[in-house]
Amino acid sequence: MKGHEITLIGSGNVAFHLGRAFLRAGIGVDAVCSRTHAHAAALAAELGSRVLVAPGDISDRGIVLIAATDDAIAPIAEGLALREALLLHTSGSVPMEVLARGAAHYGVLYPLQTFSKDRPVNLREVPLLLEASGPEEWAKLKSLAAAISGDLREVNSAERHKYHLAAVMANNFVNHLLAMAAEFLEKEDLDFDVLYPLIRETVDKAIAMGPGAAQTGPARRGDEKTMERHRAMIRDPLLETLYRLLSEHIRSHYR
Ligand SMILES: NC(=O)c1ccc[n+]([C@@H]2O[C@H](COP(=O)([O-])OP(=O)(O)OC[C@H]3O[C@@H](n4cnc5c(N)ncnc54)[C@H](OP(=O)(O)O)[C@@H]3O)[C@@H](O)[C@H]2O)c1
Repeated sequence: MKGHEITLIGSGNVAFHLGRAFLRAGIGVDAVCSRTHAHAAALAAELGSRVLVAPGDISDRGIVLIAATDDAIAPIAEGLALREALLLHTSGSVPMEVLARGAAHYGVLYPLQTFSKDRPVNLREVPLLLEASGPEEWAKLKSLAAAISGDLREVNSAERHKYHLAAVMANNFVNHLLAMAAEFLEKEDLDFDVLYPLIRETVDKAIAMGPGAAQTGPARRGDEKTMERHRAMIRDPLLETLYRLLSEHIRSHYR
């Protein structure tokens, strides 16, 4: 799918991974524009692209992909006046229509995965949740998305928002609890790596059996004294509240 001219706005985790995936697919990234010039320059060097100082320098051609923080997407779009280019964003929670403020043709390419720059990701296995403002825009978006992923899903903004909420629960919240477990063991001078087989099995079992059937633990069993002893060991009051609320939720959910 050569012949597409891509401009990236933003130079963070998603811009980095999408930029590299486009290159691997033989699609050059023509230019990078970001709030911090040094960040744009670093990503442009990685991708062999030009650096654009301001969004006003962006040409009205090809695909302009905003991979910036959610709250920056609408103001960035408002600063554009694209008549020809397809304007995309990559957010799970921002409605597609905010892009209408800056473009006649627009859409969303939301990669449902967690991205950090220093962690490789196989984009071909990442579901791309796609939405477009019309049939022509859809054809262009689908052809771009198919070049980097084998899992394309058409969803509207409301559905994407619901997937995003589920993703926050499945990834962000679970990962935060892992971080709390790691910090707790570190403070107690104990080893987090003892938990690695358990962490892997938690995810494998939830996928194999369904998370509802896979639930175990003191809250699921109703072992009140065990939970009291756990809570007594937690020094952070907010984390103690979180332990209590999660346990109560598990209790009531499986009652
Ligand atoms: N990370 C994920 O796991 C993930 C997964 C799926 C979708 N997403 C979505 O992808 C988007 C980007 O996320 P990310 O994780 O890549 O964020 P990030 O690593 O925090 O990077 C955000 C980027 O936004 C740029 N930015 C902020 N305000 C800007 C502005 N006014 N003009 C131009 N650039 C601006 C920042 O620029 P400077 O660095 O130059 O200051 C930075 O490069 C978000 O909409 C997010 O919801 C993220």
